[in-house]
Amino acid sequence: MNPMAVVQRLTILWTLIVCCTSATLNILDDVSFMLNQPSTNTLCAFCDVLNATCPESKGNCKTSCDKVASCDHAEEVCVTVWRSSGTSVTEETLCHNPLLPLYGRMLDDYNSSTCNMKKQKTHGETLFMCACNKDQCNQEFTFDEKPYQKVAPSHKRKEHNKVPHQKSKPSEDTIIGPNNVGEEFKLRQLCKFCDILDSSCELKEPKCESICERTSTCPNSSEVCVGIWRNNGTHITEETLCHDPTLPIYGYMLDDSENKECIMKEKKTTEGVMFMCSCDEEECNLNFIWEDEKDKDPVFLWSDTTFVALSSLLPPVIIAAAVIGIFYCYRVYRKNKLSKKWEKNPPCMRHPNMDCSDDCVMMIDDDRSDISSTCANNLNHNTELLPIELDTLVGKGRFAEVYKAKLKQNTSDQFETVAVKIFPYEEDASWKMEKEIFSDINLKHENILQFLTAEERKTDVGKQYWLITAFHSKGNLQEYLKKHIISWEDLLQLGCSLARGVAHLHSDHTPCGRPKTPIVHRDLKSSNILVKNDQTCCVCDFGLSLWLDPSLSVDDLANSGQVGTARYMAPEVLESRINLENMESFKQADVYSMALVLWEITSRCNAIGEVKDYEPPFGSKVREHPCVESMKDNVLRDRGRPEISNSWLNHQGIQLVCETITECWDHDPEARLTAQCVAERFHEIEHLDRISERSCSEEKIPEDCTENTNK
Ligand code: ADE
Repeated sequence: MNPMAVVQRLTILWTLIVCCTSATLNILDDVSFMLNQPSTNTLCAFCDVLNATCPESKGNCKTSCDKVASCDHAEEVCVTVWRSSGTSVTEETLCHNPLLPLYGRMLDDYNSSTCNMKKQKTHGETLFMCACNKDQCNQEFTFDEKPYQKVAPSHKRKEHNKVPHQKSKPSEDTIIGPNNVGEEFKLRQLCKFCDILDSSCELKEPKCESICERTSTCPNSSEVCVGIWRNNGTHITEETLCHDPTLPIYGYMLDDSENKECIMKEKKTTEGVMFMCSCDEEECNLNFIWEDEKDKDPVFLWSDTTFVALSSLLPPVIIAAAVIGIFYCYRVYRKNKLSKKWEKNPPCMRHPNMDCSDDCVMMIDDDRSDISSTCANNLNHNTELLPIELDTLVGKGRFAEVYKAKLKQNTSDQFETVAVKIFPYEEDASWKMEKEIFSDINLKHENILQFLTAEERKTDVGKQYWLITAFHSKGNLQEYLKKHIISWEDLLQLGCSLARGVAHLHSDHTPCGRPKTPIVHRDLKSSNILVKNDQTCCVCDFGLSLWLDPSLSVDDLANSGQVGTARYMAPEVLESRINLENMESFKQADVYSMALVLWEITSRCNAIGEVKDYEPPFGSKVREHPCVESMKDNVLRDRGRPEISNSWLNHQGIQLVCETITECWDHDPEARLTAQCVAERFHEIEHLDRISERSCSEEKIPEDCTENTNK
């Protein structure tokens, strides 16, 4: 036979075999998927978050969700969550196990056949939730104005352990301690956590290493490491993250979460192919292990003919392999390029999405000795107290003392280091205020001190009020600057992270776009900022903070008066002439104080030339604790500001930082930059710095970067 005709026939045969095999596989897959679906599970409207159809929280409403899904587990019921915050009104439809809290609340009405909305207690947003247990019952819901329900008391939450398929781990809002008496105190898992990246892993390689270079501590101890590999036909991606195995992810429960290795299993999806794995060992989602399909899938046992046909088609296979090889090389090349880019970005501004931490908070735990516990921004509603042993006194403030302390694990000698801020009985109002601010779930940010819980304690010396937070061994920024001369890179890190923390406080939305009530600090100063181990800042001490709730009237704000520390007070605060008509005025006063802190950081940076001993702003002009009057003389009468000497400006980067500082302490509050703008400025300065470094090394003109060589 003519060889061309042989090749032609073989190609046709090969195409036929491939088509038939893939069709058979798809059919078998569909059948097995249908067979695996439990028939008794509730059918629910399931659209996650959509814009709501009903703007008013009154009467009956029909959801805009037109998707119906069968719940993954028989015990799950249908839920609708309706939120209104600012201009955003959303509804979320989902399945949920009523024995677990949802958004920190128990669904106590889930035996109902209709979805009756109940108002929940939140700060700054209106939140209604309803649950019901009849098919599609959450497609319609009714509002009433019944009061919110509190988070389930501890004895109720213990029932979680009885739920089939559920592990006895604390849920998102569970406080470590009282419920865990006799149970192991589980540390948060370390996982690869890069969200979605292009992947170089090919389908069913025996083992493939994730390209994710970021390892993070999971926000909750209940969470395990997860790996997800997808191929939508044009793109291969991998996703690495932490997830609570008691909750579904992409509509699936993690049934392999106790594995020590991440063994990939195929999951049904409408977009191409998806494999998922989970595991509960340190960084176990670094390697994706593909299950041996031959052991599992009977289709492969029937495929002798397929095998014979395929082996007879060696030439096209070789061509395909070559194409895949080229594609693979391209991906490896891209991966290297991407990871180099990643490395170059400093952590302060690594990735715009990195902050997207509303629901899946990812605090990179640079500080291994620091807190790695779960439940940040939670309150201890239980009566039992955390097993804490106080260690040394590390700070003394106006209202409270701060101790380094050991948070002990019940079953072993292990402990985590935490900070405990102790308020005496008389200062309960300050404790309450700070506790309230910390309990705002939208406060969570890597540049805001991580909160664990608040407690009331009876001690030998009387009743005390405690706030338990992360511990940062480098201490506060003022103490740090007294002891250290910092590099130009440190200045960028500290300045940028400080601005980001303040910008987050002031923002009216979270990094994920969820509405948030802006907060003003009102006592920003270097002793209220902590230095983390990765040389970034986190803002602390929210005792004087204020929510800028749009519903506050001028009269409400009039009483908020002149608060803070005189040395750091903006001119309009010193004069008690803050514009109460405009809530931005409070943010502008914070920006002034932040400018003074940025000046303090700059004054200790070796890029300015000769670095003098640490002095606070206006250090030589006023005494240690200046009063408002003496600050008025300096700041208002003399229009004085801390000195920026000309020699500092020899360094181009310092010059840009100083321009930013000057704009932030402008006498006119309206002329000041916003904290967000300052964070962006730092980002630009970092960028320019990198460009100038590169051009210096490429062009080898050392004169152009004399400043940089001084670092
Ligand atoms: N001083 C005040 N709060 C602190 C904390 N959380 N860690 C270390 N030192 C502190």
